[in-house]
Amino acid sequence: MTSRRSFLKRIGIGFPAFSLLGLASFSSKAQEPHFGSDNQKAAIKPVVLSTWKFGFAANEKAWEVLNSGGRALDAVEQGVQVSENDPKVTSVGLGGLPDREGKVSLDACIMDEKGNCGAVAYLQGIKNPIRVARLVMEKTPHIMLAGKGAQNFALSQGFSLENLLTEESKARWEKWKLESNSDSNPDKPEINVEDHDTIGMIALDKNGDLSGACTTSGLAWKMHGRVGDSPIIGAALYVDNEVGAATATGKGEAVMKSLGSFLIVEFMRQGMSPQEACEKAIRRITERQPDAKEFQVGYLAINKQGETGAYSIQKGFTYNAFDPNRKEQNTSGHRFETAIRTY
Ligand code: GLY
Repeated sequence: MTSRRSFLKRIGIGFPAFSLLGLASFSSKAQEPHFGSDNQKAAIKPVVLSTWKFGFAANEKAWEVLNSGGRALDAVEQGVQVSENDPKVTSVGLGGLPDREGKVSLDACIMDEKGNCGAVAYLQGIKNPIRVARLVMEKTPHIMLAGKGAQNFALSQGFSLENLLTEESKARWEKWKLESNSDSNPDKPEINVEDHDTIGMIALDKNGDLSGACTTSGLAWKMHGRVGDSPIIGAALYVDNEVGAATATGKGEAVMKSLGSFLIVEFMRQGMSPQEACEKAIRRITERQPDAKEFQVGYLAINKQGETGAYSIQKGFTYNAFDPNRKEQNTSGHRFETAIRTY
């Protein structure tokens, strides 16, 4: 590996190509699940992780399902609905902050232990996009429905149209419009660094199966029609029941450029712990995206043994971790400066 690396450097293959080859060269090791001596240990289960402080209530709901022996898929679907239904959570579902035209549009995806997945993008007027995403997975031959088609599908499944723009969110949008007129950079959407953004949730159930869900109203004041990472399988969420699961929060464009959740699962397949995999995926962003200091991305990961990881670009990324021994809210380690220096 070392000699291959130096050979590639000597012949001047650029960094992206080198990384690709580097990944390929790991592939013989990558054939085997990484757990090695961990295989001897009993897995910690059930486990559920979710993003941000507001996700604690969502974790509590998911825990009820997991602790009573329920399926991880049901746990994550029911868990994230707690945030979707809470009008005080202004980055998900009802009460989500609108785009710059004052319209609330929602993105979500879900993935189960069999590799089945479903997603909705740019869904308007339906409070629980995660339930629609699950129905797309279970009742259609497709993986993603968007816009009017997603809304029509939801209505055909018994959902009702609702006004998702609460008075509070409307007032914030009107304030933003007034202020952005005098702003030197009025087109900049709001990037949430602390205590805000998408809820991503991943879980390992008592049966040892993994699933995940992700749901959001996206960046506040985004361009009308913008879709972020949250409905993109592999970007905001990925589950491989042989290896682990990962989810993302933060600036969707940055996550989409690196397919962060898929990357983390593949890093775990190569032998990394969930923590190492999250750190390496964050470094992939900070190395390649020169404006990374200006935005936030946070990742969570879990492996088949119930080990967990969390990492973010900036300070302030909180997450919730429940397993039989703990019910905790933590702040992820972050090492932006070190990451830049070291890599
Ligand atoms: N991560 C949410 C978004 O960028 O839309």
